[in-house]
Amino acid sequence: MARVEMLEKILPKFVAIVETRQDIEVELFPEEELALGMAVPKRISEFTTARACARAALRKLGLPAAPIPNGERGEPEWPIGVVGSITHCEHYRACAVSHAHRVLTLGIDAEPNAALRSGLIDDIARPEELPMLRRLASEPSEIHWDRLLFSAKESVYKAWFPLARRWLGFEDAIVEIDPKQGTFHAKLLVEGPSLADARPKATRDMPLDTSVSTGASLQGFTGRWIVDDGIVATAIALTQR
Ligand SMILES: CC(C)(COP(=O)(O)OP(=O)(O)OC[C@H]1O[C@@H](n2cnc3c(N)ncnc32)[C@H](O)[C@@H]1OP(=O)(O)O)[C@@H](O)C(=O)NCCC(=O)NCCS
Repeated sequence: MARVEMLEKILPKFVAIVETRQDIEVELFPEEELALGMAVPKRISEFTTARACARAALRKLGLPAAPIPNGERGEPEWPIGVVGSITHCEHYRACAVSHAHRVLTLGIDAEPNAALRSGLIDDIARPEELPMLRRLASEPSEIHWDRLLFSAKESVYKAWFPLARRWLGFEDAIVEIDPKQGTFHAKLLVEGPSLADARPKATRDMPLDTSVSTGASLQGFTGRWIVDDGIVATAIALTQR
């Protein structure tokens, strides 16, 4: 597996990550075949490669290979005691997993570092986010900040869903990107799930990614981002207490 190390730079050490830029063929479990259904070759490749990454990531945690089908809302279904997230875009696939006793939820997303197609920004950005995008775009940079905002929101949704088990729209969070720290914060504008039993704590090796607003319910997520070799990647790891 060709070694890629983007997410490793932005996720805590206790998250097992496997990233690849090449497709990998593995035999799928029957549950995965069923979840995949009648798919086009592109979907078969990304799904199968993501499962190969998932198995390798589980192995890093000391766990055996297991089927990772999709649930009703597309979410990956992890073995009991595991949390994880999957992303795939052209020339890049990745999986991040961790033990559920360490991490409450994970969200990862990767996108090509290219401008969003015309008009899409109106669908994904809130009015409050537009001045930030204009400010960021006014500085010379190779980073497509509109794409980074999109990716951050996708990571938010992937981290949100396993906790809330419900939809979160692009208009339901305001994302603030910190261009210097390589972080972002998503403030939720809808009632989040209760976190009373799962207060997160910061760790020495990753103080920022683990910080969420405390309180009875989830108020937001803090994540990290990286841009390298034509890919924008974002990641959220919300740790268990
Ligand atoms: C589900 C969604 C986030 C996937 O993102 P994407 O950029 O299209 O695709 P990616 O390749 O990065 O990710 C695909 C993976 O997302 C995961 N995924 C899909 N639905 C999911 C869900 N409900 N919860 C968590 N993860 C999910 C799956 O693992 C999938 O891979 P797989 O089918 O091989 O298992 C996106 O299609 C979507 O529906 N977005 C709208 C919701 C949103 O982003 N809201 C913003 C809130 S601020």
